[in-house]
Amino acid sequence: MKKNKISKSWILRQKKDIYVRKSKLEGFRSRAVYKLKEIDQKFNLTKNNLSVIDLGAAPGSWSQYLSSKVKKGKILAIDILKFEPVNNIYAIQGDFTDQKYQSEIVDFFQNKVDLIVSDMAVNTTGNKNLDSIVTGELCLEAMNFSIDHLNKKGIFVSKIFMGSSFNEIISTGKKFFKELKVFKPPSSRKESKESFVICKYLK
Ligand SMILES: C[S@@+](CC[C@H](N)C(=O)[O-])C[C@H]1O[C@@H](n2cnc3c(N)ncnc32)[C@H](O)[C@@H]1O
Repeated sequence: MKKNKISKSWILRQKKDIYVRKSKLEGFRSRAVYKLKEIDQKFNLTKNNLSVIDLGAAPGSWSQYLSSKVKKGKILAIDILKFEPVNNIYAIQGDFTDQKYQSEIVDFFQNKVDLIVSDMAVNTTGNKNLDSIVTGELCLEAMNFSIDHLNKKGIFVSKIFMGSSFNEIISTGKKFFKELKVFKPPSSRKESKESFVICKYLK
């Protein structure tokens, strides 16, 4: 009964949401695309010839956006879930926290990369605190990987939740990157605790 109520209100909200409608019209797989687009417009992330990693990529709207902006570069996307192929994207189905997949990513590029974006989030458990803790851990894992595998002028962007690991994420980011900003894109739902951290240039 409760589940029914939740899904009905979710469907209603989706119908009213302008970003959902816009994403359908523009051929994107998720409204999430506008968050990356807004971050890109503000922080100048993309260029034509970058090497890019998209973490937590399914169903693929960030990859669709990256593929349209990075035409001469190299893009790899990973998600636990399978998703429809995207033009010019090398996709891996696997858990990013597993060393086996991190080695596969490193082997794919052979060199350090220019941009790592992470929209990884747990598929919600229903417990908001637990979700925010696990998503914070995913962000830290992605940040540590980025510290090892970004170029000196590289950029790391990640979803974060205003929760328990927020301080650790910010202090680790400030320790290793020259610039760090926290930004909530206008398309991120106001009632969500989600924000994004943008880290530029390794120290
Ligand atoms: C909000 S969705 C990403 C939406 C995506 N950016 C888009 O635009 O279509 C979060 C994704 O993170 C993925 N995810 C969560 N934990 C992960 C992990 N350990 N490794 C890889 N992907 C993970 C989930 O499977 C989910 O598809």
